[in-house]
Amino acid sequence: MRVIVPSELDRKEAELFSQLDPNQFPKHIAIIMDGNGRWAKRRHLPRIAGHKRGVEAVRYVTETAARIGLPALTLYAFSAENFLRRPPGEIKFLMKLLQTYLKKELELMQRNNVRLEFIGRSHMLPPEVQERMAWAKEETARNTGMVLTLALNYGSRSEIVDAVRSMVHAAANNGGLHHLQIDEEAINRHLYTRHLPDLDLVIRTSGELRLSNFLLWQAAYAEIYVTKTLWPDFRGIHLLEAIADFQGRERRYGGLLETNGNNSHSK
Ligand code: IPE
Ligand code: IPE
Ligand code: MG
Repeated sequence: MRVIVPSELDRKEAELFSQLDPNQFPKHIAIIMDGNGRWAKRRHLPRIAGHKRGVEAVRYVTETAARIGLPALTLYAFSAENFLRRPPGEIKFLMKLLQTYLKKELELMQRNNVRLEFIGRSHMLPPEVQERMAWAKEETARNTGMVLTLALNYGSRSEIVDAVRSMVHAAANNGGLHHLQIDEEAINRHLYTRHLPDLDLVIRTSGELRLSNFLLWQAAYAEIYVTKTLWPDFRGIHLLEAIADFQGRERRYGGLLETNGNNSHSK
């Protein structure tokens, strides 16, 4: 198959992209955007300076992901634990940054045909942030390209709790609890991520080897890629490097590899 390199990629990105296997592209990549604080500390700057730079990385990575035709990108912006445990001043700054981001970056999303979604307990965020989120989601609702999902006040365990609650409620309102059917498909349908394809690749920046309560259910058979690069330094080329690494993995899903090297489960 001939590789068509998107013309908007820069030279280094285009070179790496042309080496990728178009038949083995991930459908859904999720990124734990970690290391903003360390980035700032190395420069003797306040932590918030790292968060500010982190937004620029989001811009670059979103654009490259959209240009290469990735169907779904999910970004862990802040966790439920961050929301609870970070100092109020830092949370306040993150809320402001999010509000500005949603307004300023709308043009980039429209230009790249990106549809915005959110996961997490957003009802706990300040009302003005919730309003801006609803606005940005509505403005991009008719875009048909990549789905960009922002995880805000997100925790995987609370997502599973919410899914179980929602299943019980749905059954109670729909003929009674004896109609409650619990299987993996039902749980999938009630998770925040029900709008997304299966997760193929989780990237974590800044070197930590943990999931920090991110997409625990969805990551069951995802490949994990950890880079020492701090989030504010992450660019499109790093995303392509992660995809190249992903394409070198053998996905087994608990089975055995077939002799031709292809796994029957891979799509
Ligand atoms: C990730 O960077 C952004 C958020 C969690 C909001 P950190 O703020 O966790 O940065 P480090 O881990 O302290 O370097
Ligand atoms: C995970 O990073 C959350 C985000 C990157 C948004 P943390 O910095 O909160 O994770 P821990 O505390 O190192 O596990
Ligand atoms: Mg961190």
